[in-house]
Amino acid sequence: MNIHTNIALKSFTTMRLGGMADVMVELKSLEDITSLYTQAAERQLPVYILGSGSNVIARDEGYRGIVALNRIMGFEIVQEDEMSVTIRVGAGENWDEFCAKTVEMGLSGIAAMSAIPGTCGASPVQNIGAYGQEAADVIVSVEAYDTTSGQFVELSAEDCKFSYRHSIFRGEAAGKYCITAVTFRLYRGMPQPPFYDALQNYLDSQNITLYTPQVIRDAVTAIRAKKLPDPAIQPNTGSFFKNSVVEKWLYDEVATKFPDVPHYDMPDGQIKIPTGWLIEQTGLKGQLLHGMRINPANALVLINESAGSYSDLAAAREEIITQVRDMFRITIEQEPLELV
Ligand code: EPU
Repeated sequence: MNIHTNIALKSFTTMRLGGMADVMVELKSLEDITSLYTQAAERQLPVYILGSGSNVIARDEGYRGIVALNRIMGFEIVQEDEMSVTIRVGAGENWDEFCAKTVEMGLSGIAAMSAIPGTCGASPVQNIGAYGQEAADVIVSVEAYDTTSGQFVELSAEDCKFSYRHSIFRGEAAGKYCITAVTFRLYRGMPQPPFYDALQNYLDSQNITLYTPQVIRDAVTAIRAKKLPDPAIQPNTGSFFKNSVVEKWLYDEVATKFPDVPHYDMPDGQIKIPTGWLIEQTGLKGQLLHGMRINPANALVLINESAGSYSDLAAAREEIITQVRDMFRITIEQEPLELV
């Protein structure tokens, strides 16, 4: 395991902000993990596990500990039957390459999550989702190192307590596990409509009526390329805010003033309102605040155009949150994690 010191976190996070990590290492095997946590305990240093940094914001003070890049690879078919193929993938594998591989195998289940930046190990953490699919629908189990017991463990999908952009890995068990592999069950059948509106509209506009996993992957990749800035060119972390899930009375209050408010009913009776729409109503869409551009194509995404520091981002974030709260009484929530 190579050990590097004084590493700029902006080079390892797609928002390209933040200070220095005291120590950085790469994890390539399970032995690397046990050795890392043993050494960190001896030196009383905290550890932060990072994938490709596409959903994590580093702060200006950096990290007084060890940032460990998860590079544990692997791709293995663990079970097959007429209906499905179950695949175990290393946490450090690139998510989109994994998607591409499963689509080439003719499998359905994650094609609509094509082109999401990041690693496979990060997919359960925030329960990634796009165009009507989410990781929770296809995850069978998550393997991890339990830093409290020092044991390698396997968590069932139920243990992960998945919900909209959430799981125990960013909630009650944040920092407890170092994810080593994820097992997905994917399906041999064709993707089944009804599809998410934006996806169906795109398919219709291209006169596509035969829905294969490859067709869905190509369509989603094309839609994303139009709406979401490429983090390699324009620093960003995808959606910067979660969509807003509110009580019915609050939705009714918004709908009285804005009868056209887009909304989706949630199974528990709450209502989801697109936060991009809320931000757009404040007039902030497309504006530059403290060097952060509110994406003109989707106000949910903030692009670091010229922010010099995390505090610029924090100032922009506060202005957006305040303006939305003043207009709608809804407090919008940040989606990416913070490297602390
Ligand atoms: N909308 C606006 N103005 C905006 C943006 C959105 O009015 O500036 C409204 C539109 O009515 C649109 C609706 O919001 O119909 C939904 O917009 P869109 O389909 O573009 O998706 P989103 O809610 O902005 C979510 C995910 C994305 C995912 C897309 C597609 C979250 C936080 N974001 O965005 O995920 O790709 O749906 O499924 O749930 C990510 O998590 O980083 C991410 C990019």
